[in-house]
Amino acid sequence: MTAAGKGLEGVVASQTSLSFIDGQEGILAYRGYDIHDLAPNASFLESVFLLWNDRLPTREELASFEAELAGLRAVEPGTLEGLSGIPRDTVPMAALRTGLSLEGIFDPDAEDNSPEANLRKAKRLVARTPTIIAAAHRLRQGHDPLDPDPSLSIAADFVRMANGEPGTDEAAAALDRTLLLYLDHGFNASTFACRVIAATLGDMHSAVTGGVGALKGSLHGGANAKAMETILEIGEPENLGPWLEKAFAEKRKVMGFGHRVYKTKDPRAKHLKAMSEQLTKQAGLETLFEISSELENQMVGQKGINANVDFYCATVYYALGVPIDLYTPLFGMGRMGGWTAHVMEQHADNRLIRPRAEYVGKNDLPWIAIDDR
Ligand code: ACO
Repeated sequence: MTAAGKGLEGVVASQTSLSFIDGQEGILAYRGYDIHDLAPNASFLESVFLLWNDRLPTREELASFEAELAGLRAVEPGTLEGLSGIPRDTVPMAALRTGLSLEGIFDPDAEDNSPEANLRKAKRLVARTPTIIAAAHRLRQGHDPLDPDPSLSIAADFVRMANGEPGTDEAAAALDRTLLLYLDHGFNASTFACRVIAATLGDMHSAVTGGVGALKGSLHGGANAKAMETILEIGEPENLGPWLEKAFAEKRKVMGFGHRVYKTKDPRAKHLKAMSEQLTKQAGLETLFEISSELENQMVGQKGINANVDFYCATVYYALGVPIDLYTPLFGMGRMGGWTAHVMEQHADNRLIRPRAEYVGKNDLPWIAIDDR
């Protein structure tokens, strides 16, 4: 028995009808709708509705869905208590992981995997992920968490809860679009982790908590924060050449570049690049965009490696004033819509996910009694 390629490259593990990716042509679609149509026209929650219901909502359905989720934003008091007890320097992704796990303890449907209970939990999870991230952020800065304001959109309320004051409509719209672009992406590492957990008939909170753990790593969601650190480290356009030469010589991965599935441009990057150009200009941070686009040119020109979703998202968030260690939690806020959809899809037609391993260790060793070792 021989193993599949390292990292399961090219392995089609199962089926999904949530998102379609063509890595050769650079196509991404949610439930059949191209990301290039969704990104400029739909909202994050409209796309979540699409993913969960397999159809676009009417205006009335969308308004009622938004209102329902807005009413679910307040997290359990026990979750806030738990978050206030973790060390002040806990990294935000670890705080999110803990917050979601706590929500699972208090959830009235915690152990119920029925489709109805799963949908109720999915709504609470999408609605409350921003609240958890904002609460942990406030606590870390020595402030009390703020209650949600259901009159605001999910993105605008996140900005208010995290910063203590409302942001502009434009900032909320930009944030919302990044959430839409992060929503779902086939069997990416964190989603696959969720599906493995769901396939044991594990509950939704356990699954998405595992998803956060997988997203946290820098080869996956952690890359958006690392990409920003890279751009800041380069600092000035004239530093780019020597910086890249050194990175290549040291065989360092340039964060925000490369993708397991896309062998061409990541279609999400197109939208984020346009947003980055506009927002950095408005914020007087053109240099960061200049460095970014030149880094992209060099990576494509010298290595044939394209920017992925995380690269231009970094400068979008920077221009919006988001603290760097909240970039990956924001990715999780968007992906929560996808993770929960995958748990529902897995539970609806389940079989345990349990691959084999090719054993490459020693064999047939003679037993040695403990006193003889
Ligand atoms: N910088 C420099 N070289 C790279 C990069 C990069 N970002 N990505 C790939 N390469 C090179 C590798 O060094 C390797 O070269 P080699 O064959 O000469 O050794 C080749 O391209 C193939 O790279 P792998 O790491 O084997 O590709 P894999 O499919 O396993 O990894 C991954 C994909 C993890 C995304 C990788 O491109 C990477 O580490 N990128 C940086 C981290 C990042 O941006 N992650 C976010 C991905 S998108 C997301 O998760 C939402």
